[in-house]
Amino acid sequence: MKILAIETSCDETGASVVEKDGNKIKVLSNVVATSLSLHAKTGGIIPENAARMQTEYIIPVITKALIQAASSDNNSLPNNNIKSVTKEELEQANIILKEDIDAIAVTHGPGLIGSLLIGAETAKTLSFTFNKPIVPVNHLLAHIFANFISSSKRYTLNANIFPFIGLIVSGGHTDLLLFENHGSFKWLGGTRDDAAGEALDKIGRVLNLSYPAGPEIEVRASKISKPSFSFTSPLINSDDFDFSFSGLKAETSRFVQKNKINEKMKNEICFATQKAIIDVLIKKTIRAAKLYNVKTILLGGGVSANQSLLEQMGLNAKRYLLNAKVFSPEKIYCTDNAAMIGAYALLDYKPVPWQKIETNPGLYFD
Ligand code: KG4
Ligand code: ZN
Repeated sequence: MKILAIETSCDETGASVVEKDGNKIKVLSNVVATSLSLHAKTGGIIPENAARMQTEYIIPVITKALIQAASSDNNSLPNNNIKSVTKEELEQANIILKEDIDAIAVTHGPGLIGSLLIGAETAKTLSFTFNKPIVPVNHLLAHIFANFISSSKRYTLNANIFPFIGLIVSGGHTDLLLFENHGSFKWLGGTRDDAAGEALDKIGRVLNLSYPAGPEIEVRASKISKPSFSFTSPLINSDDFDFSFSGLKAETSRFVQKNKINEKMKNEICFATQKAIIDVLIKKTIRAAKLYNVKTILLGGGVSANQSLLEQMGLNAKRYLLNAKVFSPEKIYCTDNAAMIGAYALLDYKPVPWQKIETNPGLYFD
């Protein structure tokens, strides 16, 4: 089965064609247009600007994803400029969609309302016009299911490895879940205020780092081997599965006001911030796995691209959970992308009539 997946929950416009081939979820194309450079100027996403860019990108991105999937060399884009699309490319994409694609998947929440609507209304139109089944997908669950995407760079994870603990760590969410089966899961806890990625991005703004700040904080933190101070890991000793990261920004701001900040000091702050976040994520995830006697942990979301988080979670799982295994998606599938939306739809295939697709910016886990 081949699915055309569409993702527009935040600032990215993504389209991907994914295929289920035996046990494998293969990505035939994965096109992401981002308006990040626009948001870098404002140090954060302005929803209206994101949506405006998405209206321009959505048709070219889908067109390119379809053509790329059908071409033998699916690493090359048909036309390097994602924003422009020729009449010939549109005609070619129409034929591919009509003849090669079995269904459409689209993110229906959570996310920014304007952005979600652009993806969902486009997907509904294509579903109606081409008479294809359509599957609504929860963006958060898809972040975890990105782990099931096959890749030449890593082994293929068996899609039936239930039960497992899922830790979603992104720019908008931090949630811990117990997955019992496809479509069956229990929410264990989440952040009471800022998400882990959001905290990194806000601290990045205090330190004048690039946006989003997670990748630069990781690089700067890796330069520190002997830290000279540390920050508090919020809620690390609470016996629930909750998180709280807003206090970290306040702590960093106070520190920056009190101290002279040179490059070395910036790296130290990055190390202390990253460690404070990682430590509490690890402690609560390992405790959840222990409580539910689970031997597999899957990370997902932009922050799961962080190598220290993955490595240290792995070491702790080995030590405290009798060799439990920890996985995170290949880097390109950690941050927002449409391939993960397609992967989720292939593994939990529940099409609905297109009229029933409703965007829900506050969609959670019910
Ligand atoms: O999943 P994502 O692309 O978007 C949301 O659904 O929110 O996550 C974006 C977040 C940003 O906050 C960014 O700073 C963070 O992921 N991020 C990282 C890394 N790469 C991206 N955080 C830590 N280490 C990284 N390498
Ligand atoms: Zn996301």
